[in-house]
Amino acid sequence: MRPKLVVGNWKMHGSLSGNKNLLQGLVAGVGAIGEVSASVCVPFPYLAQAQQMLAATPISWGAQNLSEHAQGAYTGEVAAAMLLEFGCRHVIVGHSERRALYGETDAVVAAKFVAAKSAGLVPILCVGETLAQRESGQTAEVVAAQMVAVLDKAGVGAFAGAVVAYEPVWAIGTGKTASPEQAQEVHAAIRALVAGRDEVIAAGLQILYGGSVKAQNAGEIFVKPDIDGGLVGGASLVVDDFLAICQAASR
Ligand code: 13P
Repeated sequence: MRPKLVVGNWKMHGSLSGNKNLLQGLVAGVGAIGEVSASVCVPFPYLAQAQQMLAATPISWGAQNLSEHAQGAYTGEVAAAMLLEFGCRHVIVGHSERRALYGETDAVVAAKFVAAKSAGLVPILCVGETLAQRESGQTAEVVAAQMVAVLDKAGVGAFAGAVVAYEPVWAIGTGKTASPEQAQEVHAAIRALVAGRDEVIAAGLQILYGGSVKAQNAGEIFVKPDIDGGLVGGASLVVDDFLAICQAASR
């Protein structure tokens, strides 16, 4: 069985004092969450704080983006090697907010995935369809195209030890979750796509669900066979909610 993973995506939220309370609460509660790995992806300026507060705990941390370049004249960008200096384990790649608001194309996302993986970070590759795409029956095609762009560039071998997150855009921050059956269907399709290139890597690939995961719905989502945990936005900012979601993944 694949181990479960729950990752908090703080997005652009936080403050030094607020983070301190949140992280202290998570550390205090983490002993009770059982067999699940937990991680928080924080804004860049708070990586040092996460490193300091989480280093001696079972909780990992990471970033929400990185540059596709190793170094150079790229004002405002952050390289994989810099994330490693702050002890990052994970980095989110190709979140739909970055695709939609910052123009990240499949090609850029693929290059970022390669940069993360080759530096030794665990990329969390986000894929997912918009509401219009779902309503016009294009979900499978859109998600497959997003996956293939990265598989072709990185090679299937790069998916060993990487993570994929299926995040339907219409479910992010809206309170609308994909039904467990809808999510399972897409997760199974993602795994089958990877299996077409390498069955062993596909069988070991952690595929997280993201989009309005809450303490109340996490259990019914995580019980599905191809759902290996969650990528959690809003609920990751509340200690008890995030811990309850981790707990739901450990059952
Ligand atoms: P919400 O959990 O707030 O819907 O956000 C999901 C998400 O985008 C995680 O990356």
